[in-house]
Amino acid sequence: MMNFNVIRKEVVDSTNNYAVELIRRGELNNGDVILAREQDMGRGYGNNVWESEPGKNITMSICFKPENINASDQFILTKMLSLAVVDAISGLIKRDDVSVKWPNDIYIGDMKAAGILVQNYIAGSKIDTIIAGIGLNVNQQVFLSDAPNPVSLRNFTADDFDIEMVLSIILDKIDDYYCGAPDDDLQKKLDSKYLSKLYRHKISAKYEAEGIAFEGIITGVDEYGRLTITNSEGQHKLFAHKEVKFL
Ligand code: BTN
Repeated sequence: MMNFNVIRKEVVDSTNNYAVELIRRGELNNGDVILAREQDMGRGYGNNVWESEPGKNITMSICFKPENINASDQFILTKMLSLAVVDAISGLIKRDDVSVKWPNDIYIGDMKAAGILVQNYIAGSKIDTIIAGIGLNVNQQVFLSDAPNPVSLRNFTADDFDIEMVLSIILDKIDDYYCGAPDDDLQKKLDSKYLSKLYRHKISAKYEAEGIAFEGIITGVDEYGRLTITNSEGQHKLFAHKEVKFL
């Protein structure tokens, strides 16, 4: 069991920034969760902003201090968190089209309901600390930013959700994945579950890399978290984050 310790904040710039500041001061422990009602500078991947109407959604950062995860295995945690969020959403809105759009978006159909922003701190060859930021759109119904395809759970139901209930479901799911013993068998199960939930897995679709559009099929994700796509000439291509665009 993780024994999550939820630290509730009214307003922060970004729960990830706040968590990083606490780490710097040596004040953040394994299992601490910073949950904010409002972020005035919520961050997405790269230079993106993360829009979240105050009090309507989940914006949080979880601190993990794993005992023994190699730096080269950092994508494992992204996989676990993504699947935990997929499971939580599927249960809450009772849909089976909830998926992981590689590398860290959670989709319902073709719309984005959640984003995950993982920051790893490495010590030697091991991961020392992970700050996992999770933004899940829960009750927000209107999105003002130019994010391409936002959606919330509320768009699939008649009533608002209780944020605390959603939070505890997500944390329970994360606990299930994170605390499952990290043996080989579990690793295989995690990988096959991840593939079964991977957006566009084994489906022919259009992508763009280095400014060139091409048709391809996602075949999986390698151990370093790179996306593998087979193009129509049968060539296998590997992409790191931002090297490929889903068209
Ligand atoms: C993305 O989709 O690009 C990642 C979005 C991550 C958003 C969450 S909200 C809580 C945490 N604090 C932040 O500023 N960002 C993450």
